[in-house]
Amino acid sequence: MTEVAGLEDLDLSQVDLTNVPGHIGLILDGNGRWAEARGLERTAGHAAGEAALFSAIDGALALGVGWLTAFTFSTENWSRSESEVEFLMFFNRDILERRRDELDEKNVAMHFMGLLDDPRVPDRNREIMADAEAVTANNDTLHVVFAFNYGGRADIARAARRAAELVAEGQLRPDQIDEPLIGSLMGIPGMPDADLIVRSSGEHRISNFLLWQAAYAELVFPNILWPDYGAQALVDSVVEYQSRVRRFGTA
Ligand code: IPE
Ligand code: MG
Repeated sequence: MTEVAGLEDLDLSQVDLTNVPGHIGLILDGNGRWAEARGLERTAGHAAGEAALFSAIDGALALGVGWLTAFTFSTENWSRSESEVEFLMFFNRDILERRRDELDEKNVAMHFMGLLDDPRVPDRNREIMADAEAVTANNDTLHVVFAFNYGGRADIARAARRAAELVAEGQLRPDQIDEPLIGSLMGIPGMPDADLIVRSSGEHRISNFLLWQAAYAELVFPNILWPDYGAQALVDSVVEYQSRVRRFGTA
């Protein structure tokens, strides 16, 4: 178990540390409601969500989780107001600039998954994501994946397109297109299937997140708005995960 500074109060007494999910997906939801409940702008909720995300990362480190994927901007989020989209674009790169070195010191590898070459994504975001990935490439305590301009269906469609290109180039036969091949053309190399997907805010939906990788994931829906989530809430979600019996289609 990793000792994480500032987490002395974390209660791990209910967790089985030998049965921690290898890959947790987080759907960060409820920032707007959190802000509106306080009479603040929605963007203040996103700003408050930063501390929750980094606390959850610390929780994952303390638990010894291998992979943590956070849904930070969806392909559907472009339909929000121009000012909110602009804020989220800036915020997504600002967080990386301010906190990359801290994650690097914790031996966290950073990855980015989504339609990163979308012309609507500012070049500066692309540069900062590429830098963060390069600087932390050799880290291996925890892999944090930022699902940014991400959609699960878009990811599957892109994998299918890549397979078609390989066929067209004569590098692949159609009968070689199977589940492991499509899986290998998606997401981040080496990323395992998700064991646990958490969506905060009490909404019970998967909303196009990790569709392929969530095939057998346990789903946990804590009734907590994202800015109130954090290390202890992540531990509690893992405790709930451990109470489930995973059958993988067997009797
Ligand atoms: C999630 O919170 C924010 C993003 C990752 C974009 P929301 O902005 O969806 O908050 P609610 O659902 O309106 O409360
Ligand atoms: Mg929402």
